[in-house]
Amino acid sequence: MGRPLIAEIDLDALRHNYCLARELAPHSQALAVLKADAYGHGALACARALDDLAPAFAVACIEEAQALRDGGIDKPIVLLEGIFHGDELPRVESLGLWMAVHSEWQVDALLDYRPRHPIPVWVKVDSGMHRLGFSPERLPEIWQRLAGAPGYACDLHLMSHFATADALETRYFRRQLALLNELATRLDAPTCLANSPATLAWPQAHGAWNRPGVMLYGSDPLEGANDASRALRPVMTLHSEIIAVQELDAGEPVGYGGRWIAPRPSRIGVVAAGYGDGYDRHAVDGTPVLVDGRRTVLAGKVSMDMLTVDITDLPEAAIGSRVTLWGRDPGGEVLSVDEVARHCDTISYTLLTGILPRVPRRYHGSMS
Ligand SMILES: Cc1ncc(COP(=O)(O)O)c(C=O)c1O
Repeated sequence: MGRPLIAEIDLDALRHNYCLARELAPHSQALAVLKADAYGHGALACARALDDLAPAFAVACIEEAQALRDGGIDKPIVLLEGIFHGDELPRVESLGLWMAVHSEWQVDALLDYRPRHPIPVWVKVDSGMHRLGFSPERLPEIWQRLAGAPGYACDLHLMSHFATADALETRYFRRQLALLNELATRLDAPTCLANSPATLAWPQAHGAWNRPGVMLYGSDPLEGANDASRALRPVMTLHSEIIAVQELDAGEPVGYGGRWIAPRPSRIGVVAAGYGDGYDRHAVDGTPVLVDGRRTVLAGKVSMDMLTVDITDLPEAAIGSRVTLWGRDPGGEVLSVDEVARHCDTISYTLLTGILPRVPRRYHGSMS
């Protein structure tokens, strides 16, 4: 049996969430974003599970693309940041990848390199994120350079990223979108703009392609949930067991620094999961957990291999009780990773990508 901490990955939920992204944008194609090992879920397993649904995948770098190719994935794969050095181009070509270009040196390298078949290019414009991309002023010249190069014209896309598509305050988002609409019209360019929040909440931003990431894994990125985001299903369930129980008098502290002090005679369950597994050490007292499907809370600082939960009001809880740290309990109760993230002053993305390799992933559902 061994240590009871496991990340269950529900591939049917992944497929459900992908289908939702597709239904929300019937005139777009959805790239499934699989970077950072599919947000901690296992890129190859997720790619295989989506292979019959998704027309293409997206990753951050050539190493991630290579791992998918080595695993037998032959769909197009987009490098979202393009190449990091010009000498990657032969590999981009031989692996049959598509690439973003966001900087002049990448365009120079690409045009100097003469592939046997043109490499499909996604030209990234900085419409307000101020991270990667050509300025809107430089974009037309870059676009014309690429469009004028033999073979490239038919495979050019305009790509950009939103800074605030998840937010309730919409002014900045609308400003980015207006600029992008104007550029796309001027260049007559097919677009790829929408991340998960824009896929879920902004049909106006849907383009020839969308790039949903975190929503595929069942996390709701919106500041204000909507009907679509409420239909997402958690893909990862992180669960473990109580391995010891402490009976404490009122006033007794628990864990490092004695942060949590028993306000009454208390029972504390010690759970096999800690920051050495990727569970966030910033989790505050009161962070929700499920013990045998019932809600209770973290009590005390997270240690490397263990954390402690208050089971005073759960008299049935004992050594061996199942503890769900996020995801779906077998009884159907759901604890969303987004709710846990709020108690850690972070976002689901960091929790999901932070689960370390020592936590075994167990896959369920359709493997295509
Ligand atoms: C360029 C780019 N596109 C798409 C995504 C997917 O975003 P999300 O996970 O919010 O859907 C990301 C995520 O960081 C990104 O950097």
